[in-house]
Amino acid sequence: MPGNTHKSRTSNKAMTLFVCFLAALAGLLFGLDIGVIAGALPFIAKDFNVTAHQQEWIVSSMMFGAAIGAIGSGWMSSRLGRKKSLMAGAVLFVIGSLWSSMAPNPDMLIVARVLLGLAVGIASYTAPLYLSEIAPEKIRGSMISLYQLMITIGILGAYLSDTAFSFTGNWRWMLGIITIPALLLLIGVFFLPNSPRWLAAKGNFRDAQRVLDRLRDTSEQAKRELDEIRESLKIKQSGWSLFTSNTHFRRAVYLGVLLQVMQQFTGMNVIMYYAPKIFEIAGFTNTTEQMWGTVIVGLINVLATFIAIGLVDRWGRKPTLTLGFLVMAAGMGVLGTMLHMGIHSVGAQYFAIAMLLMFIIGFAMSAGPLIWVLCSEIQPLKGRDFGVTVSTTTNWIANMIVGATFLTMLNTLGNANTFWVYAGLNIFFIVLTLMLIPETKGVSLEHIERNLLAGKKLRDIGHRD
Ligand code: BGC
Repeated sequence: MPGNTHKSRTSNKAMTLFVCFLAALAGLLFGLDIGVIAGALPFIAKDFNVTAHQQEWIVSSMMFGAAIGAIGSGWMSSRLGRKKSLMAGAVLFVIGSLWSSMAPNPDMLIVARVLLGLAVGIASYTAPLYLSEIAPEKIRGSMISLYQLMITIGILGAYLSDTAFSFTGNWRWMLGIITIPALLLLIGVFFLPNSPRWLAAKGNFRDAQRVLDRLRDTSEQAKRELDEIRESLKIKQSGWSLFTSNTHFRRAVYLGVLLQVMQQFTGMNVIMYYAPKIFEIAGFTNTTEQMWGTVIVGLINVLATFIAIGLVDRWGRKPTLTLGFLVMAAGMGVLGTMLHMGIHSVGAQYFAIAMLLMFIIGFAMSAGPLIWVLCSEIQPLKGRDFGVTVSTTTNWIANMIVGATFLTMLNTLGNANTFWVYAGLNIFFIVLTLMLIPETKGVSLEHIERNLLAGKKLRDIGHRD
């Protein structure tokens, strides 16, 4: 039997790794595009002489595109398949990166970033879905956290490359260099197999079997998995009609929306997009200092994500989230207080940065990965595509609102109040977590689904009894 020999087992493992690596590359691009604007923005602002309001739109246009991309990719990935969707995303990544680097004026830059956003939206929906359908069961859970890790590595990569190009001040290179990983993704995607689950859903069981044979250790394993897929396909995706007819499912959809709103309104992306600006507010006026400070922010974001990977299945979701919101509230609150009192010494400057980093640790160890994990766990199978589309789209809309209002908040409320608003929101999220968020650690998805549809309180849908 071909799947049983040692040689083909090794090559099947290599194939699975290659497939996971490529899908995760989409996460990397997501991160690169989120991160790149922070370092580029000050130079774009100077070059085009744009107002704060225009700057906010240069930042947020990508999130607008991503929201549209996420809505469209639910449909696209079920009609054309995950592989073709990823391909479409990769093409848009290439065009968007090139176009934004050549934009002759701010309006064109905004249009190019909407295109990039479409790519990011498609990637943020399709890649985790594809990964969860391709990865062997044993590592399926950790794939979602690893995907978040790739996002943070992308953000760090963008900060590093921004810093390297900042010596010449050439923002066009900062944006244009992303074309290279985008091209790599595009080439690589051609070699990806179609998702076996999607093939089976289209009735193409023979190809589904063939793909599984290439990915799994033994042909028995492949066959068993295909049987399971066949079984689960008996449940038809009927998200919209379930949404209109079932109040319990509606609660899960609203919970997904709430979770993503909470993630974005922690204020994390204020720092991701405007880090150099925040360093300036904290008294670091030199551009090189601001750029290196931003790199440290990116590095801490990557490292602290490992805390989440370690804690999520040991401590559970709820305590980790609660602690994370507390750490974030403290970071933003103290930073706001320092800005209120004025930062007059070098010691105070560094302390302010320590608070900023504390906030980053709070996010990366909790809401960063955990919100994505929870959003994929709480939806019943029948409505999963719909539920995850709605929550992913919410992520981007909330992201856009945060990006599009930060500079205006600074100008109207003042620096200290702006940070206090975010501190207050994080405290509010602790209350919401305790009241509404379920603990899903170690409980099967079927169990969560049964509790939800039986009408248990949201916070109890992870209970075992
Ligand atoms: C969020 C992004 C954020 C990133 C930062 C992700 O989970 O959805 O909005 O920029 O984490 O690491």
